Amino acid sequence: MSSTDLKIGPHLLGIRGLSREQVEFILATAAQFVEVSERPIKRVPTLRGKTVVNLFLEASTRTRTSFEIAAKRLSADAVNIGAKDSSVTKGETLLDTVWTLQAMAPDVIVMRHPSSGAAHFIAQHLTRSAVVNAGDGLHEHPTQALLDALTIKQKLGKLTGLKIVLVGDVFRGRVARSNIFLHTLLGNEVRAVAPPTFIPPDLAQLGVKLYHDLPSALDGADVVMSLRIKTEYLQDAFIPSTDEYCRRFCITEPILAKYAPESIVLAPGPFNRGIEMSSEVVDGPRSQISKQVNYGVAVRMAVIYLLAIRQGAMNLSEHLKEHSA
Ligand code: CP
Repeated sequence: MSSTDLKIGPHLLGIRGLSREQVEFILATAAQFVEVSERPIKRVPTLRGKTVVNLFLEASTRTRTSFEIAAKRLSADAVNIGAKDSSVTKGETLLDTVWTLQAMAPDVIVMRHPSSGAAHFIAQHLTRSAVVNAGDGLHEHPTQALLDALTIKQKLGKLTGLKIVLVGDVFRGRVARSNIFLHTLLGNEVRAVAPPTFIPPDLAQLGVKLYHDLPSALDGADVVMSLRIKTEYLQDAFIPSTDEYCRRFCITEPILAKYAPESIVLAPGPFNRGIEMSSEVVDGPRSQISKQVNYGVAVRMAVIYLLAIRQGAMNLSEHLKEHSA
């Protein structure tokens, strides 16, 4: 299949359900958008006249800002709605909210919601707008996994034959699930290390190797992904104390230097310094955290572009050349 035959959409609800070719196609499209953010005038006219609504019914710094910037860099109109300023606070249902938004004919609705499955639910009921899942409860966060993959590809020059280690709260980690789907699809070895209470029961069935001690899990790792302890979901006592967690699972430079000396470190953010990772790791040379945020804009430009135009990216490079500043 040539890339011009590939279609993405009509929605992007998760990594599960995408083919390997579709993942590679989105990443290749995103790679073409990376340099737009390096230009003095960071804007191309690609989606002039299109409208993107960002409906964020749960807190977000990176994803919300990134989707807004991505839409604006494509010259689309971007409208942002947060939980506090939407009529959901007056009791309007989610479905009535998105039907109302759809009546204004946006091309893409990007939604974050605390309930797993919320993006799938609205996608079933919308006929005119494409839906992008920007994180739904404990379920998936597909654009985060895609930007993580682009970061790895740009840094290591490859996305196959890798040992990827997830450290921390996999149970409440939608980023973890999307990354597991993506890297098992690409044939990478995926490991998870955490206290047993942070490991969901279906993890081994997803093809993930389980560990309960950090040194064994890190052995020979290419990529270490730190997962935040997500106390905003299911506020049960998953671990006896953060001190105890930190003693066994905090990612530090001496541990990386000993067991995974060639590794790079990714974290979706936000993160807790001194609990999931030491500041030496966050700010050190292995850390790709600010690159992840940077590439996030290019990935979201690619996703919005592919869903808004619903066609292949055959002429995109010519188009970008034509409009470079
Ligand atoms: N990584 C991520 O989703 O961060 P935000 O919650 O700040 O959007």
